[in-house]
Order: sequence, then C-alpha cells, then structure tokens
Amino acid sequence: MKFAVFASGNGSNLQSIINAVKKGAIKAELALVLSDNPKAYALERAKAAEIKTLVVNPKDFTNPQSMDRQIVIYLKEAKIDFIVLAGYMRIITPFLIKQYERKVLNVHPSLLPAFKGRNSIKDAFTYGAKVTGVTIHYVDEQVDHGPIILQEGCKIYEKDTLESLEEKIHKIEHKIFPKAVALFADERLKISRRKVKILEADSKTTG
Ligand code: GRF
Repeated sequence: MKFAVFASGNGSNLQSIINAVKKGAIKAELALVLSDNPKAYALERAKAAEIKTLVVNPKDFTNPQSMDRQIVIYLKEAKIDFIVLAGYMRIITPFLIKQYERKVLNVHPSLLPAFKGRNSIKDAFTYGAKVTGVTIHYVDEQVDHGPIILQEGCKIYEKDTLESLEEKIHKIEHKIFPKAVALFADERLKISRRKVKILEADSKTTG
C-alpha cells in the first residue's frame, strides 16, 4: 500500500511516521508528503528522507472544494491508497472524504470528544482539566468526530505549564500515531458503526 501524509507545520508527527516506515514498523510506502503551506518545515523533513513533496496553495484556488479536487487528482496519479493527516490545519471537504472513505487518519491532541478544535492542548489546560491526551481517529464529514482508533491519556498536574503539557502530548502523539498507521497498513482495524476493533496480528483474514 502507498500512503500520503498531509502536514501544514513543523512535521514532528510526520517525522515519527518516517522513522517508523524506515524501521519497518509501518509496512506501507510513504509515497507523498503534501502541504498547504510552502514554508512548512514538514517539507524539509520529507526532502531529507527523499520523499516526494507537493505544495497545494489555497491561494491558487477559489474555494476548498476546487483545491481538494486538484488534490484528489494528484493522489490518484501517485496511486495513493490512504491518507494520514499529521497537523494538517485545513478541514478536508466531503468530496475528498468520499474518494477516500475510511481511508483518512488524523491525530488530535485531546481525548475526543473533549476539546475539539484547533487549540485543544491550551483549551484543556486553561479549562482546568486534570486529564487530557491524544486521539487517533478516522476522518469523517464532521470535524474531530470519526471512529476512534487509539487514545492515550495523561494527567495535568498543578506543576504543569502549557509548555510542559504540550511536550507530554507530543510525546504521546509520536508514540501512538505511527502505531495506528501500522495497524491500518496491516489491515488490522475493523470498524463497526463507531467502534474500531483491533484484530490480532495473525487473525486479519478470520476476524
Ligand atoms: C499536533 O499536536 C497535532 O495533534 C495537531 O497539530 C500538531 C502538529 O504538530 N493536529 P507537528 O506538525 O506534527 O509537529
């Protein structure tokens, strides 16, 4: 299987996925890194790993639909089987989701359904939550909503600062996101309604 990672910024999650592919933990080819931001450091990381990059700039399109139509053309050209959103700061349109139904994975820095949206780490911190964490989920047509693949929590202690919490969250992301991608690539995820069952390593044909 071939997959693409979409990233808009630093790309530390992309890096964790690149490393897992290199180690053989993810048994799929990372064939493309796509960004909506020409300045994304994620693009440098991809180039350093000799992965094909593509910048699709929203400024070149009149609306999100036309941008996603172009993206789908690129993805089909590259024979991409599934998509990993790793800090992609755009909402992908129903058109793209339909083309890749149940084939788009996302990382979200909170325990969904708590703290949806763009500033989840800060929101959990300022809300005074005692526990937060990371969710890896399928993308569907509602924001931060699709079936949950993996979640891991962490405590927010009184001594924590926003920075120390961010650090903890990223550490969890870098651990569980590559794991979820590997499970997907190994076809070990079975969805029934909202529930995602993780099949044993040797039971995917019978599960
Ligand atoms: C991550 O915290 C991710 O959960 C959120 O955006 C951040 C991206 O970080 N959606 P990076 O670009 O992978 O370093």
